[in-house]
Amino acid sequence: MSSTRDGQERDEQQQPPPTTTDAGIPVASDEFSLTVGPTGPVLLQDSYLIEKMAQFNRERVPERVVHAKGSGAFGYFEVTADVTQWTKAAFLNKVGKRTPLLIRFSEVAGEIGYPDTTRDPRGFAIKFYTEQGNYDMVGNNTPTFFMRDPQKFQDFIHSQKRLPDTGLRSNNMQWDYWTLSPESAHQVTILMSDRGTPRTWRHMNGYSSHTYMWENAAGKKVWVKYHFKTEQGIQNFSDAEATAMAGQDPDYHRRDLNTAIAKKDHPSWRLEMQIMPFEDAASYRFNPFDLTKVWPHKDYPPITVGRMVLDRNPANFFAEIELAAFQPNNLVPGIGPSPDKMLLARLFSYADTHRYRIGTNYEQLPVNRPLAEAATLGTSRSTRRTATAAPRPTRSATMIRAGSWRPARSCGRPTWRTRTTTTSSSPACSTGR
Ligand code: HEM
Repeated sequence: MSSTRDGQERDEQQQPPPTTTDAGIPVASDEFSLTVGPTGPVLLQDSYLIEKMAQFNRERVPERVVHAKGSGAFGYFEVTADVTQWTKAAFLNKVGKRTPLLIRFSEVAGEIGYPDTTRDPRGFAIKFYTEQGNYDMVGNNTPTFFMRDPQKFQDFIHSQKRLPDTGLRSNNMQWDYWTLSPESAHQVTILMSDRGTPRTWRHMNGYSSHTYMWENAAGKKVWVKYHFKTEQGIQNFSDAEATAMAGQDPDYHRRDLNTAIAKKDHPSWRLEMQIMPFEDAASYRFNPFDLTKVWPHKDYPPITVGRMVLDRNPANFFAEIELAAFQPNNLVPGIGPSPDKMLLARLFSYADTHRYRIGTNYEQLPVNRPLAEAATLGTSRSTRRTATAAPRPTRSATMIRAGSWRPARSCGRPTWRTRTTTTSSSPACSTGR
């Protein structure tokens, strides 16, 4: 105990704040349970002990069914070129405009404690907190993928995970899948190159891989692909280096990102867009919505439009990374899907898995909550986490009558005919707001 006032202030600064119950009440002890006499028994009325045990028993959520091991950081996106001729997205409407974001990098096949450096594609998922709600760009570090039909996704993932009988991963199972699915060859070639073992997440590119649609204020549409090019330069491990690092530091990528940002060595990426006129798609020499293919740069040269910088580490890994929920159907006005079948399946899948993994109100969790306050008509819901004023259920009818609002979505006419079907594939829905 200090005898001077200065000393007392110093002591107070060094003392951690008292522990409290979940109701904020200071607790008597974090070391001793409430007992009858020094040797027990323990009393049921020690509600703090019971709270601690009960919360401990419930502190996990299931790991992501794919992309389980990863980490991320916060930062911002800055517009560096005028793109209003292509999109009316509000967060892209002015050169110099900055939008806060969260990115999560990940491996695909490994479980939550898997070594970071094994050979695998890497996830590159960005949540832009825009003034028109969250926009999620959920991509990879490769511009292509292993298949073009979502019917094969689940079987493919199972082939990369563990055998049902032994619980072991199997090279034979992986290669059986790939060799029996020739359309995977492009992605397998990338995966087996040095880019399959990036040195760090900072030293790899990110791609939307899919084609998306941009639509300007006049309703004119174009097809686009996103390329986030690392400004740190591409660096990869050799196979031997990656294998050695897996044993030396299984969290190597997670540690690298966190350390760099803590040292204020803020990583950055340049956003380049490939832009295809809407009409080109129907007559292009191959299906431009096929996820196993890239658009040659000589046909559609990448155009630099912005820059992403990561400058803040998460303060609570569980709350901000484990509970982060990215979903490709989070598209803001001015950005829509393309008729890529894989993308269209993903528009359903992610919200469904979030509801199962982290609960129906996952979008009210701090990391997923939009900056633009959500005004949905679903007001009750079990375990609702926010208490903002809810709009009346009659609101949409009132607004339509008043002429101030029209249904948010309409679908345009089919434009793209696939090779494998005689009917035209479903057109991209206009964001039409
Ligand atoms: C039909 C195809 C696909 C389906 C059904 C699918 C489904 C899923 C599911 C269920 C998750 C777990 C999400 C979570 O629990 O938070 C996930 C994660 C992820 N997927 Fe896919 N996926 C598909 C294709 C793709 C493709 C083509 C890409 C990249 C272009 C991709 C990138 C990612 C990323 C980056 C994550 C991790 C997101 C995060 O960091 O939380 N997926 N996917």
